[in-house]
Amino acid sequence: MEPEAKIKAIAPRSGVFSLLVVDDEAATRNLCRDVAVEAGLQVRVAATTEEAIAILDQYPVDIVVTDLKVPQIGGLELLKRIRANTPEIAVIVLTQFGTIETAIEATRLGATDFVTKPFHVQELRAKLDRLAHSIEIDQENRVLREELRSRPGFGGLVGVNSRMQHVYKLIQKVAQHTYPVLILGESGTGKELVARSIHFSGPRKNKPFAPVDCSSLVPTLIESELFGYVKGAFTGAQHSKQGLFEAAGEGTLFLDEIGDLPVDLQAKLLRALQEREIKPVGSNERIGIRARVIAATNRDLEAAIRTGGFRQDLYFRLNVVQIKLPPLRDRKGDIPLLVNTFIEKFSDPERPINSISEDAMRRIMAYDWPGNIRELENAIERAMALGSGPILQVGDLPSNLQYNSSEKLANVDELVPLDILERRAIFRALQETSGDKLAAARLLGIGKTTLYRKLKQYESGRPHV
Ligand SMILES: Nc1ncnc2c1ncn2[C@@H]1O[C@H](COP(=O)(O)OP(=O)(O)OP(=O)(O)O)[C@@H](O)[C@H]1O
Ligand SMILES: [Mg+2]
Repeated sequence: MEPEAKIKAIAPRSGVFSLLVVDDEAATRNLCRDVAVEAGLQVRVAATTEEAIAILDQYPVDIVVTDLKVPQIGGLELLKRIRANTPEIAVIVLTQFGTIETAIEATRLGATDFVTKPFHVQELRAKLDRLAHSIEIDQENRVLREELRSRPGFGGLVGVNSRMQHVYKLIQKVAQHTYPVLILGESGTGKELVARSIHFSGPRKNKPFAPVDCSSLVPTLIESELFGYVKGAFTGAQHSKQGLFEAAGEGTLFLDEIGDLPVDLQAKLLRALQEREIKPVGSNERIGIRARVIAATNRDLEAAIRTGGFRQDLYFRLNVVQIKLPPLRDRKGDIPLLVNTFIEKFSDPERPINSISEDAMRRIMAYDWPGNIRELENAIERAMALGSGPILQVGDLPSNLQYNSSEKLANVDELVPLDILERRAIFRALQETSGDKLAAARLLGIGKTTLYRKLKQYESGRPHV
């Protein structure tokens, strides 16, 4: 799948991961060790929690596989300590069949995954492979964030896509001059951010930046907003007011949504730009203007010109330099960077969320983002507010991403008995929600009591996966 290829493109495989096996039974220890060595991991073993803690103190460890009934303090307590001291270590818990409550307790304490004993070699191998891959992605996300911090910023513009590189070059160039700039792009692609970076990376950065949204005001208001008015110019004008053209001084006037400016005002704006002076509403006096003008729109102005909705002469006047912002779907390679930026932006010291699951990232990459960066930013902000674990999960994303039709279900053609499928789904949901049964039930689309009943059935010894 293409989006996945793109994640990998910026995510080359890095070093060897190390695994610690903690079990008092030599047979299990050896089996785990063999599987892990075959998976390319570096392995250490411990027969007691004391030995395990000594190894954890001495060596870097990425993954711990621990039995629950291991002397001295037991697997759950070991898990608790690992979570408190080194939360980045992934922990797989080995559970006995029928001890589902302990498994849930382990998930609640932050176990990354669990394996029911006796287990198949392939099952452990698959889990280790998946974990190693997600640790790798997590490490790369951290590297990306570091890169972000050290990269020279363009007023907060993020992205390394070649079209964005071209945008940065243009910004740097036009920032040094005062000729008009027209910024085009779909809604949410960053037009205002670009306008601000032009202003704030140029010599006028200490002068005002005055934005005016031409779509949100009624025509008479836009006129008085732009040009100002004198006392008594209209009912309610009890004193004179300076317009934004004048208030911007030697700074920048940002005419946002210029495509929505009514035609008669377009004529007045054109005159102001040509003559470099304005006449406040109700006044005969002309005032000189020095502000630079940057305009932006998500409309197709050339089409509007053809249908008479936009004046061609004004277009020529504004369109001295044009900056066209690509929609997010055309630069999906930038998505991981943006996602990480927003995770950082919305992180809350009370509930630190510092990364995103591979699965969730894949959904984000598969989606087309019609609302562009604004929509992505909102989705991450919302997910951060809902998320419960340290890693954003698919279940935290907006529902239109969770059930993205372009996302195929894994192994749909594998024929599996229904009760086993059901059990797998329940366990996946509990993992995804860190053991929160209510949230798991919601994810599965069943009631909480139904989930409880099914968990009880499994405990009473129905056949397991
Ligand atoms: N390249 C980027 N890097 C980081 N954040 C971005 C980038 N582009 C846009 N954003 C963020 O996305 C949101 C939308 O950006 P902005 O308001 O500039 O878009 P817009 O094109 O003006 O949208 P609209 O047409 O809806 O007004 C903002 O919160 C902005 O900070
Ligand atoms: Mg805007």
